[in-house]
Amino acid sequence: MTDRILGIDFLWANRKIIREHSALETTRKRFIELGTNTVQLAVLGQRVIVTSEPDILKTVLALEFKSFCLPDGRKKIMVPFLGEGIFTTDGIAWQHSRDMLRPIFVRSQLVEDLEMFERRVNHLIEAIPKDHSTVDLQTLFFRFTLDLATEFLFGESTNCLLPGRESESSAKFVEAFNYCQSFGDGDGMNPLSILLRFRAFKKDFVDELIKKALSNRQMAAEKSTTEPGRVTFLSQLAAETTDRVKIRSELLNLLLAGRDTTAALMANVFFELSRRPEMQSRVRREIDTCIGAGLPTFEGIKSMKYLRAVFNESLRTHPIVPENSRQAVQDTVLPLGGGEDGKSPALIKKGQLLAWSSYSMHRRGDLYGEDAAEFRPERWLDDANEKGLRVGWEYLPFNGGPRICIGQQFALLESSYVVIRILQSFSHIESRDAEPWREKLMLTCISLGGCKVALTPNA
Ligand code: HEM
Repeated sequence: MTDRILGIDFLWANRKIIREHSALETTRKRFIELGTNTVQLAVLGQRVIVTSEPDILKTVLALEFKSFCLPDGRKKIMVPFLGEGIFTTDGIAWQHSRDMLRPIFVRSQLVEDLEMFERRVNHLIEAIPKDHSTVDLQTLFFRFTLDLATEFLFGESTNCLLPGRESESSAKFVEAFNYCQSFGDGDGMNPLSILLRFRAFKKDFVDELIKKALSNRQMAAEKSTTEPGRVTFLSQLAAETTDRVKIRSELLNLLLAGRDTTAALMANVFFELSRRPEMQSRVRREIDTCIGAGLPTFEGIKSMKYLRAVFNESLRTHPIVPENSRQAVQDTVLPLGGGEDGKSPALIKKGQLLAWSSYSMHRRGDLYGEDAAEFRPERWLDDANEKGLRVGWEYLPFNGGPRICIGQQFALLESSYVVIRILQSFSHIESRDAEPWREKLMLTCISLGGCKVALTPNA
């Protein structure tokens, strides 16, 4: 089905609904009005398919993986400032990055990461007001995930949760990174201004650290020893290549993919917990049973089924990457999407774009039931009468197929650790915001109003 409203007016309408913070709901409602889950649009003479159909996504992301690549537009925007890395390449270059990254996300490495989480969470807890005043946890989580990701990736943290501790170059880096990640937030995506900030962003902080890692490698080679201590991703990369641009690109690609996604997830979970005392109590009871008063362990976190259901439900109702797209590298037949009702096979031609809305798909009544819009973690759990949700391609918060998010386990472990330690440290968390959740679409989607709460410390 060809849709004029989403089609001819697509570009203009998209800018408008993004600015009005209603893009995701507008698309979802349009699918419902049209009575289909796949529409074809004509955008500046180009046909684009937009879908929320699991079988189409299974074809594009897995069965016909090699027939699709990242859209040219994404590469054009991101390569100039991030460089070529896992997030911006296809084919052999992408496979090489993926192979290089895999070892830092294996289970044994994740278990070791708990010690780093604890150190960083202590800074976070110190930064939370203890006088029951209102705090925006989302802002603190953005600082937390940047501090943690820079320690994890570069071996040196930006320390932006510790006032007065950050160096001048790391402060510049934090400002530039935040600005670029929000796409210039509010100043109309001025490309010159974004480019200038990116120059600063790459230069001082990141390049200094790379220089240091390469000289450590040289010293270790001269002494025929290896440096003691934790292997960082930077030191691992420096052991493989001396190409500074390559190292920098991979680091920035990972930082972009992993930082604000995780912060947004934590903020969304606290947004719900602070408004639902019964849910908060149930997570607290589960912490008592699975963790107790001590530090969370890998096995303890894994055994928290209700907390996992809360994360699943948050990622279903508010996916952090709610929209995505691919471009066909050759003519390919999709199993659905053709005909007036979108139920016949459809041809996608070489060069055409396929965009999808995980947001719309995650809220489809025919897939999740009449209460699909409701936040109800219980739907994920087995009970005496009913089995909990078992999902396939209709649930894609981390994508699927060969390009599935490589940091999924890391993100869920980190976020669980933070929820547990905050609930252990504060006996009560209440919302200080009467507004409903609203979208703020940037490279990812975060809560427009943040997560304003008041926390009561343990007596
Ligand atoms: C809640 C947190 C996270 C969410 C919701 C999330 C979601 C996603 C999604 C949807 C994609 C697919 C993007 C695409 O193919 O167009 C992706 C890819 C990726 N994610 Fe995550 N992510 C999260 C956390 C992380 C973390 C913590 C890291 C690393 C430390 C990470 C690293 C990556 C990388 C490297 C890719 C690209 C994989 C590839 O193309 O092979 N992510 N993520």
